[in-house]
Amino acid sequence: MWVGDLIAWGDRVMDRKFGLRAALLIACASAALAPTAATSAQAAGAATAEQRAADAVSKMTLDEKLQLVFGYFATDWQGKHPPAGVRYGSAGYVPGIPRLGITPQWETDAGVGVATQGAAQQKRERTALPSGLATAATWNPELAFKGGHMIGSEARASGFNVMLAGGVDLERDPRNGRNFEYGGEDPLLAGTIVGSEIGGIQSNHIVSTTKHYALNDLETGRKGHDARIDPAAARMSDLLAFQFAIERGNPGSVMCAYNKVNGDFACENDWLLNRVLKGDFDFRGYVMSDWGAVHSTVKAALNGLDQQSGWPFDEQPYFGAPLKAAVAAGQVPQARIDDMARRVLWALYSTGAQDNPVTEGAPIDFAANEAVSQADAEQAIVLLKNDGNLLPLGPNVRRIVVIGGHADKGVLAGSGSSLVYPRGGNAVAGLEPTGWPGPVMYYPSSPVEALRALAANANISFVDGNDPAAAVAAARQADLAIVFGTQWSSESIDVPMKLDGNQDALIEAVAAANPRTAVVLETNAGVAMPWAARVPVILEAWYPGRAGGKAIANVLTGRVNPSGHLPVTFYASEAQLPRPARPGGNSEMDQFTIDYSEGAAVGYKWVDRNNLQPLFPFGHGLSYTSFAYGPISASPGANGSVRVHFTLRNTGQRRGMAVGQVYASPAAGTWEAPRRLVGFAKVDLAPGQSKAVDVDVDPRLLATFDERAHAWRIAPGGYTLSLGASSRDLRTNTNVTLPGLNLPANWRPGRPIAGPAPTHGERG
Ligand code: BGC
Repeated sequence: MWVGDLIAWGDRVMDRKFGLRAALLIACASAALAPTAATSAQAAGAATAEQRAADAVSKMTLDEKLQLVFGYFATDWQGKHPPAGVRYGSAGYVPGIPRLGITPQWETDAGVGVATQGAAQQKRERTALPSGLATAATWNPELAFKGGHMIGSEARASGFNVMLAGGVDLERDPRNGRNFEYGGEDPLLAGTIVGSEIGGIQSNHIVSTTKHYALNDLETGRKGHDARIDPAAARMSDLLAFQFAIERGNPGSVMCAYNKVNGDFACENDWLLNRVLKGDFDFRGYVMSDWGAVHSTVKAALNGLDQQSGWPFDEQPYFGAPLKAAVAAGQVPQARIDDMARRVLWALYSTGAQDNPVTEGAPIDFAANEAVSQADAEQAIVLLKNDGNLLPLGPNVRRIVVIGGHADKGVLAGSGSSLVYPRGGNAVAGLEPTGWPGPVMYYPSSPVEALRALAANANISFVDGNDPAAAVAAARQADLAIVFGTQWSSESIDVPMKLDGNQDALIEAVAAANPRTAVVLETNAGVAMPWAARVPVILEAWYPGRAGGKAIANVLTGRVNPSGHLPVTFYASEAQLPRPARPGGNSEMDQFTIDYSEGAAVGYKWVDRNNLQPLFPFGHGLSYTSFAYGPISASPGANGSVRVHFTLRNTGQRRGMAVGQVYASPAAGTWEAPRRLVGFAKVDLAPGQSKAVDVDVDPRLLATFDERAHAWRIAPGGYTLSLGASSRDLRTNTNVTLPGLNLPANWRPGRPIAGPAPTHGERG
């Protein structure tokens, strides 16, 4: 086990250096409804934090400042050992400064919980949330906050005060192997959900790190590819998602990505770091590098990197002795070193990490935390199709056969540095790849067992699906067949837009044998479903987390009424993608250029602009009840915003949650796509009940970014605001006329239009 894990870790490293992975593997805009982390108390604390950080820096020697900007990997690596004081088996460590009482920084991955690095023999067994994409599918910022709070509490109890969590790279390609770590394709939804998670994490007085800034939208060639995009389009898409997440969650840190953006590596990219992030976004915290993403000392320091992470992952200890030498040579000003140290300290002070020391080994209430994960999964599961109202399972369904997906043992998880080891261990150990980018992990939460517990009168059998003939024979005998389809994915790889192996053929065969076939999917993102027309029921369960089996069973049986909606477009085939052939080869080291010529027309905006018919559109999700949407009205608000008022009503027989989605379209075709999501609200409704909702539309969602004028421009004229159940199911609309308006590039909610000019880089 230990040797295997070491080899696994070696793979990861060899990958980075020599690109040998393949060979080695032979072994809501509803601000009114949602919690936000940026409370007034924090805002008050932030002012104090700035002053305290400046004061501490004024007392530091140059060596002490430099110590704050250089991080170590916290696990053994190629015979090299981390320094004393690390939480062994975790991602990183930055020593403290005892003379001044400055806490060490203990860093752990990631967005679904406290992870353990693959090379560590001893695993921290912690509670995993559903995947990031699953949480985005809840369209529920409050749940995202609670999930963030839960995993942050486990981080604190495990002795960590920095959590490398808050992935918000947009899905530009369903084949990106890390889509499961992110928040989907829409800047508003992703920024709202991930920002809420960040706020929840930091409510434990620890730092959260939003990542991977920016345009780390494919894993192939992640360490060498150059993401090319029109800067204005980036501001309206990927960077807007980061901006919303940062404004909402106020993270202490941002992790710059491996890839290049418009020619410069993300961790030495003046435009991304100094001008946009620290300038226009007014980000006060520190930029930490991804592990092995630094390529220079002077360029990185001057262009905005504040902390090198994970030594010895990089070729050189760029922010160690070389940075000191660069200061001595006058290549990097002292003021910039002060700025770096001040930013790190600001994060520690403003979050409370400095004042609330973490201790390793505090008790964890695993039962309560599992309930948080389960609640997230239950609202994340998307009922894509339910012909003939086959679900929920009724009492007359007596013989059920469950087929495939290891559903007798557990539920699938995504792998890589974010992988959380569950209590009880891997339910299906030994599947390839067992080393990096594996292991393939199934959490011990069996959907079959959970179903048996709920449907005591039914006879529920399981066949593994390895023998399609046996599966077909069992399906013929059953009232209902439920096939579990899986797509495993991990960091450092991309995956085909399909279920793994021969599962498509298995589903076709089972559906042919029994027309009452339901398919439950556990996938990274959307997959092609060549059998979709021939099965009456499809349920997308994503990677549903530690209690996923129970959540799936609760939805199948109707104990939970599904309320998830797609946070991404499910394409009919790869031919519909902006790049039907995935760029690059098969290694994360590949060097090539990706031309994101679709610009800000990401996901539904792309299919809408090109009149394509997706398999299931962005925002889609069914319920066991029905809802009426509307009426809707809208009126112009302050600073170019628009207040939208609408009503949702439960017209069916069951309690359920509706997601009202508001899309805007300009009368004149000045946008990248026919419509944009500009607001949403999820409401819980008893049968017959209706609720009125107000949503304030952020003016940046009604604007286009003008790079030359460095401003958001709202064109004067008429706008249609449509309310519906998905991007392709708009039920009613209203019109509003807006005066033309320019907002400065650094505008954010609450900032007057005539704000001060943005500051770049160094901050006093
Ligand atoms: C990943 C990051 C992660 C870091 C530390 C990198 O390879 O890209 O997301 O936080 O490793 O484990």
